[in-house]
Amino acid sequence: MRIKNLNLKNFRNYAEESIEFSEGLNVVFGRNAQGKTNCAEAVFYLCTGVSPRCKRDKQLIRSGETCAEISATAEGRYGNMEISAKITESGREFKLNGNKITKNAEIMGNLFSVFFSPQELRLIQDGPDERRRFLNVSISQLSRPYYTALSRYNKILEQRNNLLKSRDLDTVYDSLPIWDEQLCRYAATVARKRAEYVEMLAPLAAKAHSHLTDGAEELKISPEKKYKGSEAELEKRLFDELSNNYDRDIRLGFTASGPHRDDIDIEINGTDAKAYASQGQTRTAALSIKLAEVEIFKNLSGEYPVLILDDVMSELDLPRRKKLVERTSGLQTILTCTHAERVLYGKEAKKIKIEGGAVKR
Ligand SMILES: Nc1ncnc2c1ncn2[C@@H]1O[C@H](COP(=O)(O)OP(=O)(O)OP(=O)(O)O)[C@@H](O)[C@H]1O
Ligand SMILES: [Mg+2]
Repeated sequence: MRIKNLNLKNFRNYAEESIEFSEGLNVVFGRNAQGKTNCAEAVFYLCTGVSPRCKRDKQLIRSGETCAEISATAEGRYGNMEISAKITESGREFKLNGNKITKNAEIMGNLFSVFFSPQELRLIQDGPDERRRFLNVSISQLSRPYYTALSRYNKILEQRNNLLKSRDLDTVYDSLPIWDEQLCRYAATVARKRAEYVEMLAPLAAKAHSHLTDGAEELKISPEKKYKGSEAELEKRLFDELSNNYDRDIRLGFTASGPHRDDIDIEINGTDAKAYASQGQTRTAALSIKLAEVEIFKNLSGEYPVLILDDVMSELDLPRRKKLVERTSGLQTILTCTHAERVLYGKEAKKIKIEGGAVKR
């Protein structure tokens, strides 16, 4: 998959600009605060409907303007396509080949993309939120049922949490089983798909990690053990877990168990990486996991995703940088950095210089 050209209008610090990408390695370079990450963000947003760095789309609109527009011609999962997004104060509109996309679930999955930035390099050091976010964005691109189940789960969870704060305890105890029945149906789908995904990811990440460490380290990732079994079994187990903990949840005022609290187990050489691994080890493991994500997209769709490497080179040591650049062969990569010549290691690339929210031609 690849993006041929990207058009930005009033997006972040871009007034109006068009950027042509080559099908191989693209190095987007320039001084700090010129718009490199903004460009990378626009590509990922168009592919997924999700910004890798902010929760509110409004922030994407150029200061003082009312509407941001991003569009691209691309080769996606289903061939050539035109995709566009328009973001205003009141909402957003995505179009695929001129047709409005009416369901959020349908924004993802047309053009796969993997975004890798210093934030993702902290995937293992950071809390479980980051790891769940990684799983959610990655699996949602691959599976619309996952995206839909997750959205519904989150909605019902919010309602359940509001209910838990109510003072009318009789109503709370009467209503919880009804809410939980729906909640657990979606929870089971989410948990099951996450477990399947992590099981797919594990051998690929282990292989990448072994390669990055020249065989010195063994990376083992696995889903939480409680997620063994079929979706129906999971649904029942989750329902029982919630039923046994009504008092706890009422006391806390929120739901303290379920997929919104889950994590992945990560071990390096047999030891819990989250607690014991060094910074360098956790970064390498995070890199291995992201490279495995790239392979999963390829394995499941037959084509590589668009790989976006935002400012990660400066955070890796020389051997890892070289291995990462080697790894970009055969897939479209958009790499941002401050000095183009320092990241190439002899590899051919299209160089795109950004200055003040514009391509310097
Ligand atoms: N909505 C917005 N409207 C106008 N400008 C914005 C908006 N959002 C961000 N900016 C500006 O865009 C500029 C460039 O940001 P960006 O993160 O792309 O920089 P960068 O080139 O990646 O820099 P660095 O090398 O430091 O990572 C920043 O100065 C930021 O203030
Ligand atoms: Mg940046």
